[in-house]
Amino acid sequence: MAADFATSLRDALGDDIIALGDAIDARFWHDWSGLPPVQPLALARPRSTEQVSAVLKLCHAAGVAVVPQGGLTGLAGGAQPVAGGVVLSLERMRGIEEIDPVMATMTVLAGTPLIDIQQAAEAADLFFALDLGARGSCAIGGNLATNAGGNRVIRYGMAREQVLGLEVVLPDGTVIRSLNKMLKNNAAYDLKQLFIGSEGTLGVITRAVLRLQARPTEFATAFCACADFPGVLALLQSTRAKLGPALSSFEVMWPSFYDFMTAGVPSLRRPFSVAHGAYVLIEASGFAGGNEAARLEACIANLLEQGLVQDAVVAASEQDVRDLWAVRESVTEYGRLMGPLTAFDVSLPTTAIGAAVERLEPELAARWPGVVALSYGHIGDSNLHLVIHVPSAGAHQPHDEICDLVYGVVRDAGGSISAEHGIGLLKKPYLGYSRSPAELALMATLKAAIDPGNILNPGKVLTRE
Ligand code: LAC
Ligand code: ZN
Repeated sequence: MAADFATSLRDALGDDIIALGDAIDARFWHDWSGLPPVQPLALARPRSTEQVSAVLKLCHAAGVAVVPQGGLTGLAGGAQPVAGGVVLSLERMRGIEEIDPVMATMTVLAGTPLIDIQQAAEAADLFFALDLGARGSCAIGGNLATNAGGNRVIRYGMAREQVLGLEVVLPDGTVIRSLNKMLKNNAAYDLKQLFIGSEGTLGVITRAVLRLQARPTEFATAFCACADFPGVLALLQSTRAKLGPALSSFEVMWPSFYDFMTAGVPSLRRPFSVAHGAYVLIEASGFAGGNEAARLEACIANLLEQGLVQDAVVAASEQDVRDLWAVRESVTEYGRLMGPLTAFDVSLPTTAIGAAVERLEPELAARWPGVVALSYGHIGDSNLHLVIHVPSAGAHQPHDEICDLVYGVVRDAGGSISAEHGIGLLKKPYLGYSRSPAELALMATLKAAIDPGNILNPGKVLTRE
C-alpha cells in the first residue's frame, strides 16, 4: 500500500519533483541532531507553493506522514524523516522576490539560505537582524519554523520578531496567504505566530515577509575577562545601561569552553594568556556619531577600575573582529574534537545561570570522570548552552542520564528546556518540565484542530494520544 501511494505521488507530480526509495539522497535522511538516519518513503522537492499544496493534499487523503525540511541544521531532530513518510524539502523554493526599501521589508521563499538574506539586505543598505552560526547552511523557513535565536537577540529579538507576513500550506493543502507588510495589523488573531516556532507540526511555511532594520554602520567588539559570574552580571547591567539598544551581542564562555576550544583548535587566537573565571564577547552597533566604541570602552574601563573586569581586548580591525568571534563560533569543530555529544539549549533566569554552571560541571565530573562539559551561551538572553561528551562511553553516550540531571536543574530553577533550538524529538520527553498540563492540553487541541489526521511532522514536539 505504501509503495502504491509513493508511485501515485510520483505519477501525480512527476519524477522531477518526487524521488522514491533508493533514489533519495542520504543527506535527506537526517538533520544535525545526531539521531540515526531514517530513509523516507518518498522525497518531494517542489518548486512552487502549488506543488507543496498538491503533495500535502495527496498525503492528507492517504494519511501519510509529511516531514518538512529546510537546511537540515536543526539540533533537536525536528527535521528527521518519519519511516514510511514523505520528506518535503523546500530547498528548490529559494530566492528573494522583493525588497521594499520604503516599507523596509523583504519577501523571500522559504528555502532561501539565511546568509543570502543577510547579504541582499546589506546590498540594499538595510539589515536583517537574525544571525546564527549555521547562517551559511540554514534556510529561513527552518529558522522561522524553530523560532531561531542566535547572536543578536538581545537587541532585535527572536526570529518571530523579524516577520511581518507568511504564506503557509495547511496539512490538507489549503494555502493561507498572508503576506502582510504593515507594522501594525491587529485584525484578530495573529495567525503567523502560530506557525512560527511550531516546527512544521501545524503547516509548511512557503514564503515570508521579513522585517528589515536600518543597517548599523559603526561596530565595536570587545572580549572581556571577568573573575567570576557576578562580574559578568555587572558587565551586562553596565553595558546595557550605557549602550542601550546599541548593545547587540553579549556572549559568555566559561573556562570549560574557552580552554577546551582554544586548546583543540590551534588556529584560534587566545585573547588572554592568563586564566580567568569567565569570558564575555560584546558587540555594540550603531550609527555615525553614536560613539559606540567610546561608550563601550568607557564602560569597560570603569569596570576594570572596580575590579569587576580583569582584562579586556577591543577589536582594532576587521581581522580582530573575526578572530574574537572565531573563539565563540568554534562550536562547528565539536564533531571533530569530541564525536557524539549531548547538547543543551536551555534558558534560566540570568541571575541563576552562574550557580547552575557551578553545580552542573562538578556533578557531571563526579558522575562521569573525564567528562567534557562545555558551558557557554547567549547569556544576555538568559540562554545557556552546555555540551557534554563522556570520552569513556564512546558511541554509547549516557544521553538519558545526562538529560535527567541537566533538565532537573533547569526545572528546579524555573527555566526552559529549549531557549532557541526547539523541541523536535530530543527534548519531547522533558516538555512537561517547562510547560504546565493546561498549556500542553491547549497545544494538543490546536494540533488536533489544524491537523486532525496527524500527518504533519507526527511525533515531533508533542505526542498525540
Ligand atoms: C550556538 C548554537 C549552538 O549558539 O545555538 O552556538
Ligand atoms: Zn545558540
